[in-house]
Amino acid sequence: MKLNCLHEIKHPLIQHKLTKLRDVNTSKKEFKELMKEISILLAYEATKNLPLTYQLVPTPLETFNSPILQDKSPVIVSILRAGIGMVDGILSLIPSASEGHIGLFRDETTLKPSCYYFKIPRNCEDRQFFLCDPMLATGGSVLEAIARLKAEKIEKITLICIVSAPEGINNIHSKYPNLPIFTACVDRQLNQQGYILPGLGDAGDRLFGTK
Ligand code: PRP
Ligand code: URA
Repeated sequence: MKLNCLHEIKHPLIQHKLTKLRDVNTSKKEFKELMKEISILLAYEATKNLPLTYQLVPTPLETFNSPILQDKSPVIVSILRAGIGMVDGILSLIPSASEGHIGLFRDETTLKPSCYYFKIPRNCEDRQFFLCDPMLATGGSVLEAIARLKAEKIEKITLICIVSAPEGINNIHSKYPNLPIFTACVDRQLNQQGYILPGLGDAGDRLFGTK
């Protein structure tokens, strides 16, 4: 595991909310709220190196050269479905961000992802991308998403996942050793069905109440 690119955020608020998110007794409504709140807190960390420029701002007392985000706003790309649950929170921090979507579905037997949708903003090669998926299990879905972004000449990619498995992190970093991963927790392992242990179950089903 390449530790300097892996950011496991141990903030007590994140850990508290993650415990509630994992709980099988947490309602769909609360699950959605918790995912949003954790995403805000992870995004706060993941955006810490966004480039700044300076702008003259008139305060009520004087004009001051003050830092402000550079013009080229970031792009938030969610991996469907469950990544949708992370976007609103991140957008609340960066309202100027554009959005992209990558639809991926993991085959339950082979665990291989297949892509059914891909849409990102045009002419955004030099922008910072935040790729969001609450669950990083085998890493297959994220690797597929990254490959599709790279095919569009996107290079600045940061991954934000809520729960990650060591297998997924290793798979990503063996191919993209410098890709930053921000996560609330690196869990123990995958089970034979490719679910993260202890994990939180199927994030999409819990978010949308489909099971
Ligand atoms: C889940 C999850 C990730 C993926 C992780 O999605 O939201 O996208 O599995 O697994 P991986 O790291 O092994 O690829 P799923 O394919 O179940 O689709 P859904 O969000 O539509 O339920
Ligand atoms: N996808 C999920 O939603 N949960 C897991 O534990 C693994 C993949």
